[in-house]
Amino acid sequence: MRFFLFLFSLVAATLSFAQSLPEVIAAQSGNLSTLAAWLASEPLVNQILGSARGITLLAPSNNALAQLYGSALATDLAVDPNLLAAFLSYHVLEGVYPLADFANVTAKSAPTFLNLAGYSNVTGGQVVQSRFQNGGVAFLSGKGVLSTVTACDLNHTGGTMHIIDTPLMMPTRMTDTLVADGFTGAVGALRQAAIEEPLNNAADMTLFVPNNDAFNAIGSVISTMTIDQLTTVLNYHVVQGQVLYSQHMAAGTQRTAQGANLNFRAVNGSLFVNSARVIATDLIIANGVVHVLDGVLNPANTTATPNPSAATQVPAFIGAKTTTGGVPFTSVVATQTVTAPTHSPTAGGPYTAPAPTARPTGPPTDGAAPRANLALGMVVVAGCAAMVGSL
Ligand SMILES: *[C@@H]1O[C@H](CO)[C@@H](O)[C@H](O)[C@H]1NC(C)=O
Ligand SMILES: *[C@@H]1O[C@H](CO)[C@@H](O)[C@H](O)[C@H]1NC(C)=O
Ligand SMILES: *[C@@H]1O[C@H](CO)[C@@H](O)[C@H](O)[C@H]1NC(C)=O
Ligand SMILES: *[C@@H]1O[C@H](CO)[C@@H](O)[C@H](O)[C@H]1NC(C)=O
Ligand SMILES: *[C@@H]1O[C@H](CO)[C@@H](O)[C@H](O)[C@H]1NC(C)=O
Ligand SMILES: *[C@@H]1O[C@H](CO)[C@@H](O)[C@H](O)[C@H]1NC(C)=O
Repeated sequence: MRFFLFLFSLVAATLSFAQSLPEVIAAQSGNLSTLAAWLASEPLVNQILGSARGITLLAPSNNALAQLYGSALATDLAVDPNLLAAFLSYHVLEGVYPLADFANVTAKSAPTFLNLAGYSNVTGGQVVQSRFQNGGVAFLSGKGVLSTVTACDLNHTGGTMHIIDTPLMMPTRMTDTLVADGFTGAVGALRQAAIEEPLNNAADMTLFVPNNDAFNAIGSVISTMTIDQLTTVLNYHVVQGQVLYSQHMAAGTQRTAQGANLNFRAVNGSLFVNSARVIATDLIIANGVVHVLDGVLNPANTTATPNPSAATQVPAFIGAKTTTGGVPFTSVVATQTVTAPTHSPTAGGPYTAPAPTARPTGPPTDGAAPRANLALGMVVVAGCAAMVGSL
């Protein structure tokens, strides 16, 4: 009897290895029937996924995709096959990543197959960023959306698959992301200096964005600058040609588009750029990444150092004060429709992912405590089951 059970489990394991991705998705019909239907409407994508090798599918569950119902994105996906193909491509990682690859690392980026102008101008492919939190793995995508893994290591002939509880959001243009998040001081300043569009159209960019309080704190200085002076200051917030995610910012220096270097420090769980604290990391945008700062960086003060125990930092511009006019430059963007922020960047540690607060309306997300997948439940690696089970 024992022998036969053993044999059975071997056969079961062999069978599971032999399954193509569409077959593995079909076997999860309770959770992935919507995805299966979406794929069926995209024969080419389905065919590519069925024959692709060396991929990891982050499969949005039925509840995940139901969150999109009624949203503008759902309408667009329904009428635009190219958009649907791009949306699905963003859920496919280039490479086989068992979930354990993301365990015990605070953050890691993985390239995807999203390669559509307007959503990706990142060499090597637009990325998702992993987060390891509360013992589980989640993926950060555009607009600060965080998708938690609820079932993992569902292997197929082309690689593996993890099920996620929220669809990945395709990153949007810099301006759209910044306006949606309420960083109107930064957008106004970039517009005033006429470098907004050049930055939207650049490839592979890292942008440090001071929040509105930061611009407000130096209102007396920055609102009296000439365009050249303002441009110099803003270019000191740009690293061109390199997309630096939070895991690349613990230490070292980086040359900016302005010419001077930035100094990165990690102190007591916070990241600092010169003396400014990074208050939100890894806002993924179409052409790179944005990190939010609580201070405006000063290229004439590259040696400014933080006081990590202080909640707010002394501005890097000597003698700067707020003015009665309020946050500088915001009137330039006042006429633009500001869509509801998709998240509020959270203060705190260097790897604190912005928590999604507003989601597309729809049925509630996967409610019950997630479990390791049923079909492969017996052969799921302990680490995978533990990482999912502890969420
Ligand atoms: C969906 O997945 C969860 C684990 O995330 C599992 O507990 C549940 O049984 C699955 N539902 C169906 C209908 O397959
Ligand atoms: C993560 O770290 C914990 C504690 O050190 C360890 O028990 C676990 O095996 C690690 N998981 C992986 C996948 O490396
Ligand atoms: C991507 O970046 C390149 C190089 O800066 C630029 O020429 C191109 O217009 C950008 N594409 C998009 C879609 O923004
Ligand atoms: C780090 O935090 C601890 C406890 O809050 C504090 O005692 C220490 O001074 C801090 N270190 C620095 C460099 O700020
Ligand atoms: C440089 O920044 C520090 C704050 O880190 C500030 O105290 C100092 O006044 C600044 N110096 C100049 C020359 O702006
Ligand atoms: C899935 O594939 C990985 C290699 O990518 C392997 O280590 C793991 O044991 C496989 N898991 C299952 C459940 O077959």
